[in-house]
Amino acid sequence: MSQNKKLFIQTIGCQMNDTDSQHIQAELEKHKGYTTTSNMEEADLIIINTCSVREKPVSKLFSEIGQFNKKKKKGAKIGVCGCTASHLGEDIIKRAPYVDFVLGARNISKIKDVVDVKGSVEISIDNDESMYEFSTAKTNQYRASVNISVGCDKKCTYCIVPSTRGEEISIPPEMIVEQVRKSVALGAVEVTLLGQNVNSYGRNFSDGRGKYSFTNLLQDVSKIEGLERIRFTSPHPLHMDDDFIEEFARNPKISKCIHMPLQSGSTKILRAMKRGYTKEWFLNRASKLRALVPNLRITTDIIVAFPGETQENFEDSLDVVNQVEFDQIFNFKYSPRPGTEALNMAHLEIDDEIGSARLIELIELHKRHLEKKMDTYIGQTMNVLIESLKPNGEVCGFTDNLLQVFTKGSDDLLGKFIDIKITDASRTSLKGEVVL
Ligand code: 5AD
Ligand code: SF4
Repeated sequence: MSQNKKLFIQTIGCQMNDTDSQHIQAELEKHKGYTTTSNMEEADLIIINTCSVREKPVSKLFSEIGQFNKKKKKGAKIGVCGCTASHLGEDIIKRAPYVDFVLGARNISKIKDVVDVKGSVEISIDNDESMYEFSTAKTNQYRASVNISVGCDKKCTYCIVPSTRGEEISIPPEMIVEQVRKSVALGAVEVTLLGQNVNSYGRNFSDGRGKYSFTNLLQDVSKIEGLERIRFTSPHPLHMDDDFIEEFARNPKISKCIHMPLQSGSTKILRAMKRGYTKEWFLNRASKLRALVPNLRITTDIIVAFPGETQENFEDSLDVVNQVEFDQIFNFKYSPRPGTEALNMAHLEIDDEIGSARLIELIELHKRHLEKKMDTYIGQTMNVLIESLKPNGEVCGFTDNLLQVFTKGSDDLLGKFIDIKITDASRTSLKGEVVL
């Protein structure tokens, strides 16, 4: 094995892509002797781990790899991984022949097999890597991310993921617990459990074992000594049953910030999206959570201008935003994706200008909510896990419910849970003084 080879890896997209990149890095380090560099021009291997959930990243991919090809060190290889790799496959090499290999989002464990084989394309969406033991993924010092499933069994009509990541298979709970234990032994105090649809966990294991739910997994992971916080993403509102909500509220290790991807507030549009719940169900789940969990923060994803969305349907989304008062919203304008069912609704597509106007209206409404809400934190004392040092003499960390807090301090605060009295608020973060 030749030593001192350098890997540059660029990741676009969701947290699962981040974890996939960590796995790629760890596998190449262990099996092929690569170390990671942040300087693309000195790399022997350049990997771009892509996303294709919305349209832009696809066109960006080709301009980016073109740039890499121009600037790369002589003889350096280029690999394209992730969801765009899954859905474009060998077309990537046809369009950009200098690309050495293509590895789909469900084939990450094969990285060591393709890296030295010019022209290889591995994009099967049936590949079952749920029992594959990846070399331990690196964690940020205090946080680890652990995948709990691969794929997604939903068929949301706008979404490309089921066709890039395939069917859902759960990773066995004992492997997950072991992975979290290892991360805790390396210093992590917080873990994020990751899957496309985490709370449908446990319905399909490749060894055919019986029922075991996401709630069971939360209970088992929370028994790990030394682990202080558990986060997870993304749960599906449809599967937020009472059991799950009660465990969420009761278990002190579970972070009290939950992502509830609404997508639309209109029951008609939710049906067209095949989301499986109604506006009323979503509101009911959100209010049950708010009633049981003081200080709860709720984040969401909303798509505007889905085909057929009338002004009235859009106002249903605004209505849910007004009622739930989300703490963070990821807004998207609908983007038609290849291979999705919503393409059949092309005749109902909404004028782009209307879509943009709706997006702005939603953003403005949410801004107004945040301005009000963030100010209410001033004067409160919050417990913050300090995670990073800023160049201006400040340190930064997060509260249990995922508020970002800055304060003056130095590296002796790193990795500690510190009480901070909030003195200042912006729309996205807080500032305060350490309480001695
Ligand atoms: N158009 C716009 N937004 C989309 N998302 C997924 N597919 C599309 C699409 N075709 C959004 C959803 C999802 C988030 C990750 O991306 O809101 O929750
Ligand atoms: Fe896509 Fe729906 Fe699966 Fe989420 S639940 S990954 S939106 S198909």
